[in-house]
Parts: sequence; structure tokens; C-alpha cells
Amino acid sequence: MMSATFDIVLFGGGGDLSLRKLMPALYRAHVEAQLASDLRIIATVLFDDASLRQNRQSEHFIGEVKSALQSHLQPGEFCLDQWQAFSQRIAAVALDIVNVDKGWAELAKLMGQSTNHSLFYFAIPPSLYSTACQNLSSFALVDSDSRVIVEKPIGYNRDSAQQINQQVGQHFSESNIYRIDHYLGKETVQNLMVLRFSNFLFEHLWDARSIDHVQITLAETVGLEGRASFYDKAGAVRDMVQNHLLQLLCLVAMEPANDLSADAVRAEKIKVLNALRKIEGDDIAANTVRGQYHQGEVMGQVQSGYLDELGDPSSQTETFVAIRAHIDNWRWAGVPFYLRTGKCLQQQFSEIVIQFKAISHRVFGADAGPLSANRLIVRLQPDENIQLQLTTKDLDRTKVHLQKVDLNLNHETGQQDVVRDCYKRLLLDALRGDPTLFIHRDEIDASWRWLDPMLEGYKAANVKPFEYAAGSWGPTQADELLAKDGFHWRNDITSQGTQ
Ligand code: BG6
Repeated sequence: MMSATFDIVLFGGGGDLSLRKLMPALYRAHVEAQLASDLRIIATVLFDDASLRQNRQSEHFIGEVKSALQSHLQPGEFCLDQWQAFSQRIAAVALDIVNVDKGWAELAKLMGQSTNHSLFYFAIPPSLYSTACQNLSSFALVDSDSRVIVEKPIGYNRDSAQQINQQVGQHFSESNIYRIDHYLGKETVQNLMVLRFSNFLFEHLWDARSIDHVQITLAETVGLEGRASFYDKAGAVRDMVQNHLLQLLCLVAMEPANDLSADAVRAEKIKVLNALRKIEGDDIAANTVRGQYHQGEVMGQVQSGYLDELGDPSSQTETFVAIRAHIDNWRWAGVPFYLRTGKCLQQQFSEIVIQFKAISHRVFGADAGPLSANRLIVRLQPDENIQLQLTTKDLDRTKVHLQKVDLNLNHETGQQDVVRDCYKRLLLDALRGDPTLFIHRDEIDASWRWLDPMLEGYKAANVKPFEYAAGSWGPTQADELLAKDGFHWRNDITSQGTQ
């Protein structure tokens, strides 16, 4: 469906997120003819007197976008003809967000050249959201149809998140605020909902009677990627758990919504967040493990330690965290949810493992070989797919020999040329006015309510996270967290059948 007549006004247009993710996403949407023909992309770039004097910020910026597309699109995706048409949509304004005399009048003029509505995208630090909103309002650039997409992290804790939400809420109604979590734009994440709520088979097995435990891992091989000053203030809990990991947990654990409206889906997610058992006091050390990488080797490359990269030997910021969470409700009583994320780990992958219970009585003798419990594995990265692990008989042997088989639940679409791009998906949803895959203010509030006591506990304890070598699977204490319960993490996704 063609999007409505909106212009996208991208604050932080020259930044990393814009050039690496948003512009490629918009380019793809353009190539797929998903953007209205008169949609413009107005990017604000850092106010720089020199480029302003020469009045060539658009020209310069368009050149930057072109090189970014050439580096970040997949091989063969960049097409000169398409680029020429796409580049016509782009204009840049040099603007200083905090200074109304620098660029705001130019932005207003540019926006005034079209009657399109505005979709603002704040690809800027949240500390600037309030000023950006105030200035937009004082230049009369916000009306009741304007929408805004805001990036994570929303806040540092519950109080600061409430403050940001309240400030943005003074200028935009809740229904026009789109809090983005790019994980929700991944097609497999949505497939998880389809799988759960469209298959009798799964919905009837989806509870504490049949599920032993759940693991959600977001493992990264990358380190700070030039974001040290942001990351050191955040750490893995704020950067990954508060948003991506908790959103995935919600989708696994939520009750079926009555329908797929944004309100119905969000209400079910909020119930899950509210049912998370608080982790505070002594429970913190018993249920969570924080780590920080030191020097090691990641995929054959020497990687310096976090403190060296940061240049601050005193930092206690965690680059890894593992958490044993419990959801205190009827469906999930007694089922541990293990959450784990880290930087500079051995492999880059994101996946959800639903581990079913073992069968209650084994009828095949020991000579039939080991019997593994069924598992549903939802892989989000590097490839997106869903696998069901079952046990069958090895047909090539006369005697019964059990073998584990992976049933691949992916259906080939035959559309390999359409790149799955979560930012594209979410930008198009926001243009269409569909907030289902965006986060409601109450979800942000509930997630911080759960995390605040844990984060305060870390601060009060004032202890360094456990060390782990870059290129490992994190601190050994994270393995012990599961071993105490008789489980182990599913690691090494490249060696089939070993885990
Ligand atoms: C971002 C975090 O939200 O997600 C980054 O700020 C992280 O630290 C990134 O690297 C991971 O996203 P993806 O899609 O590459 O797994």
C-alpha cells in the first residue's frame, strides 16, 4: 500500500544511524515504490558555518548519502537510475538543535514549501528531544497530524524516562509518538506471533506444563564501534535488555491478544512486564551476572579490552549481562527465562530457544542412543529462520537408533530480491499510521520499573563486573547460572547437532 502524503524530517541526518540504517531503508522503500511520489526527506545536519556560507549543505549531504548507500546496501542493490530519482527527494538543512537562530527558520521555510504532513525522526540523543520539540512548536511546525519517531534509549531509569515521555507528550499526542525498537521490525519476530497464534499445535504447548525453560540470546562480536561515550553511560542492561530483550520476552510470553490492534497487543505485553518478578537485594547476585570484556581475539582479530578502548580503567559498566527472570503468572509459573547479551562474544547471533520438557518415560533402551528434548529455535540473526528439533529413527539402521532432526519451518518466498530491512518496515508502518510494532509509554514505564532495583543494586554494590576474554562466551559465572538449574546455554550455532 502506498504511504500517505508525509515528509520525513530527519533530525541527526548526518549521524551513524541515519547513514547506516535509515537512508538504506528509505532507499529500499523508494525502489519498491512504497513511498508516495511527493514524499520528501529533509535531513538536519550539524550546523557548520562553512557549509552554510557556501549554501551547499544539501549537495554535500546528498554526496554523503550516496557513499553511505554504496557501502551499506547489499552488493548489487545500488542502482544509479534509482539513486538519481531517490536523491531528488532529499534536502538538508544545517541546524543547531539548541539554537533557534541557527537553521530553524530555514527548516521552517523548507517545510513550508509543501502541504505534506510531517513525520519527524529523532535520530539524536534523548537529552535533545525536549528542546527539539519546543523549537518545532515555537516555529509552528507541529500540528495534530504530525508524528514523531523516537529512538531508544528512552531514559536512564524510570524517572528520566517519565520525564522524556512527558516532555515529548506536551507537543505530540501519545497516538502520534512512535517509540521504535528495531527488533520488532524483524520479520521473524512477527512470525513468532503468527506461529504462536495461528497453530493449534503450539498454542496448546505454550505454558509451564510443556515448556522447561526459555533462552533469549543477543550475542554480538562487535565492541564499542566508536560509541564509547554513549555506551559507558548505558551498559548492556540499558542498551539491550530494557528494550530488545524485554520486547522479545514479551512476544514469547504474552497471552493471545483479542485482535492485532496496537492497543490489544500492547496491553498483553504490559501484563507480562508487570508480572516479571522483581530482582532486588540478594536476588541480584543469585539471578544475574554482569561481565566486562578484556583483551582477547574475536574471529581471528585481536580485540583490546573494554577499559583500554574506553581509556578509563575505573569503569564498572557491563558489556555483558545474563539474567534469570521469572514471570509470576498462571501460564509461566516456575519456568525460567534466561536472557543474555554481550559485546565481543565468540559469534554474532540472536535467537530464542524454547526448550520443551523431556518425555516422562523413555521406552527405547540405552543402546538406542541419547534422546534430546524438543526445542523450537527462533533465529533472528545472522539468518532469519525457525526450526523445530524433533527425534526420529535413523532409517539407515535396522536397530532402532534415535536421531535428532531439525525441521525447518521456513517457507521459501521466491522473493530473494526483496531485502528484509527492519527499519524500512517500521518507517513504512509509521508513515501508514500503524503503531502496533512501536512501544507504548506504559511499556517503557513497566520495563524500567522492573530494571530500576537491579540497576540501583549494582550501583550500591559498587563492584566490577566479572571479566571475560573478548571472543569467549562471556564470564563463566553466566554458565554457572544455568548449570545450577541443570541447563546450559545453546552456544556455537555453527556446529549443528552439538548443542
Ligand atoms: C542497538 C544497540 O539498539 O542494537 C547496539 O544500541 C547494538 O549496541 C544493536 O549493537 C544491535 O542490533 P542488531 O540488529 O545488529 O542486532
